[in-house]
Amino acid sequence: MPEEFVVTPWEVRGKVDYDRLIEQFGTQRIDAKLSERIRKHTGELHPLLKRGLYFSHRDLPWILDEYEKGNPFSLYTGRGPSSAMHLGHMIPFYFTAWLQKHFKANVWIQMTDDEKFWFRDFDTLEEATRVGYDNILDIIAAGFDPNRTRIFLDTEYIRKLYPIAVQIAKRITFSTARAVFGFDASNNLGQIFYTALQSVPCFLESIEQGRNVPCLIPCGIDQDPHFRITRDLAESLGFSKPALIHNKMMPGLKGLDSKMSSSAPDTAIFMTDSPEVAIVKIRNAFTGGRATEEEQRRLGANPDICSIFAYYTYLFAPEDRYWGDVETTCRGGQRMCGDCKMELANHVVRFLEEHKTRRERARDQIEKFVVRD
Ligand code: TRP
Repeated sequence: MPEEFVVTPWEVRGKVDYDRLIEQFGTQRIDAKLSERIRKHTGELHPLLKRGLYFSHRDLPWILDEYEKGNPFSLYTGRGPSSAMHLGHMIPFYFTAWLQKHFKANVWIQMTDDEKFWFRDFDTLEEATRVGYDNILDIIAAGFDPNRTRIFLDTEYIRKLYPIAVQIAKRITFSTARAVFGFDASNNLGQIFYTALQSVPCFLESIEQGRNVPCLIPCGIDQDPHFRITRDLAESLGFSKPALIHNKMMPGLKGLDSKMSSSAPDTAIFMTDSPEVAIVKIRNAFTGGRATEEEQRRLGANPDICSIFAYYTYLFAPEDRYWGDVETTCRGGQRMCGDCKMELANHVVRFLEEHKTRRERARDQIEKFVVRD
């Protein structure tokens, strides 16, 4: 009996089987051939793509077909500002900024302060908006091009969004929303309506340019249900279906089945963690190490189950040779977990320092990025 898991935009529970999720959601796997097609345009592949954190898609070959025909795409992603951002939250933004750079794409970033208020992450709407602005600093620090990127909060851009949301909402019945999201009579009207607003930015570039522009959405696979709805109604509005490229949840520090969670701060490294705090979290992380040093030297350790190795893989060992060296010395018993953790901690501390500098610089750049009504 396979272990049960649940993946919805508002809840990820249990041990997620991503192969089964591809089947359940009806998405496509990113295979070597498709990666190679991307690489032809980007020169190198982002480690997150090469090493499988980006694993699934809808209509990505079509996006590349259009691009190759001279019809470039726009990018759309977003953030529900429920808390301070951690490394897992940053993944889609690093990846989107990388795509922007290589494909010279315009980017739309939606900050859903309304969503996080409706789904009870906050007592007041003002608090959600405030956290939204705090998160925008981290997002700008991911390296977006100010000339090609627009960031907005739903509550501040609603005049632009609303006429499109009205068109979309008319095409979604309650029965569809209930089937897709599992709503019942206790859900408030904002929660039920919300998906219409998450669809809108798929079409903003087309509306802005006055022609049908392909849209690619990098997002966590948990957000896919929203866009299944969008894809079903896009053509009736005169737009192409948005394409998607999905990432897995970045594992937390307590094992590969744990996820980074804002409500369990030990599982995640936050972008504003001090070096001391980050080091303690890394020191307490789950590894694939043996019970004793002697055993580890003799038998080697297991990177396949190790949280620390996952951090090297996805963010902290972009050079293949270095990454390979970490793995070989781990398996071979030459690398002890304590040293390996300190080595990672050095990378992480430097990374957070650099982020902090860019984040401070972002304060003066907010007005270059944020659009309002
Ligand atoms: N609902 C998303 C969240 O809770 C935020 C979001 C809005 C989003 N638009 C998006 C995420 C587009 C990915 C792509 O985080």
